[in-house]
Amino acid sequence: MKKVAVLNLKGGIGKTTTAVSLAHIITQQFGKNVLLIDCDMQGNASKVLNQYDPDSPGTHNVMNGSRTLDNCIFSTGYDLLDIVPANMYLMQANVDVMRDTEREQLHRISSALDDLQATGRFDYDVVIMDCALGLDMTVLNAVIAADLIIAPVPFGGYEIDGLQQLGEQLEDLKAIKPDIRLKVLFTMKQGNKANREFEDYLKNYSGFDVYETAIRRSITAQKATLSKMPLPAFSKNGAATKDYTEVARELLHDLEEREV
Ligand SMILES: Nc1ncnc2c1ncn2[C@@H]1O[C@H](COP(=O)(O)OP(=O)(O)OP(=O)(O)O)[C@@H](O)[C@H]1O
Ligand SMILES: [Mg+2]
Repeated sequence: MKKVAVLNLKGGIGKTTTAVSLAHIITQQFGKNVLLIDCDMQGNASKVLNQYDPDSPGTHNVMNGSRTLDNCIFSTGYDLLDIVPANMYLMQANVDVMRDTEREQLHRISSALDDLQATGRFDYDVVIMDCALGLDMTVLNAVIAADLIIAPVPFGGYEIDGLQQLGEQLEDLKAIKPDIRLKVLFTMKQGNKANREFEDYLKNYSGFDVYETAIRRSITAQKATLSKMPLPAFSKNGAATKDYTEVARELLHDLEEREV
């Protein structure tokens, strides 16, 4: 079971689109079992995967310890793809975990995943965690649980600042988890010179590991979000779906090859 967290400090940069698209492609095209854990109280991934309910069990129960993870898993209606949904209860759970200094605070998701595996009832190849922007308690738990962090980054100056800040924060977290790995995904790429230069900078000068394939900006991605559908289900052959398929291939290769 390999674990991947999709996160960055910024909002609206394609984190959820990336998490859901990769989950959909890895299950539907590559035939692997995936569990998506929604780590964002907005519940956007839960909405896209048909499992948003303001009162449902979900990630908040895993964080505050009121349920085991296996009791928070729901089917999405897509073969091989399950979800632990999120809703606004996650906000309170973040506060509760912060106050609960009696129990350890940062290994709750990773311990819950270990316990899930120990039940022998679930056989997920990949766990994908869709994170909120910033580094709240749930996101920190996702970072600690993850073998690999995917950081979506669109074109822009502030976006690079955000990426560098994330890199610094992760350096600090290496005291707790020395083997943190981060790989940058250029999202919403446009076909002009400035975007090509930005991609060149990311790949060759930023010092970050970067996915070979960038995700092209596409109105179809926005339409899929409006329709609350995974992008690859909404547009099987669209440009952004093709890009995500290549990224999924690269991700699976990384997870297998590097034994991260
Ligand atoms: N490749 C793309 N081309 C054009 N629009 C995109 C693309 N990817 C995502 N979007 C759009 O950008 C908006 C934000 O995307 P998304 O919800 O995935 O970002 P996010 O980082 O998860 O946001 P938040 O921080 O609110 O969770 C959505 O309307 C989505 O449809
Ligand atoms: Mg999101």
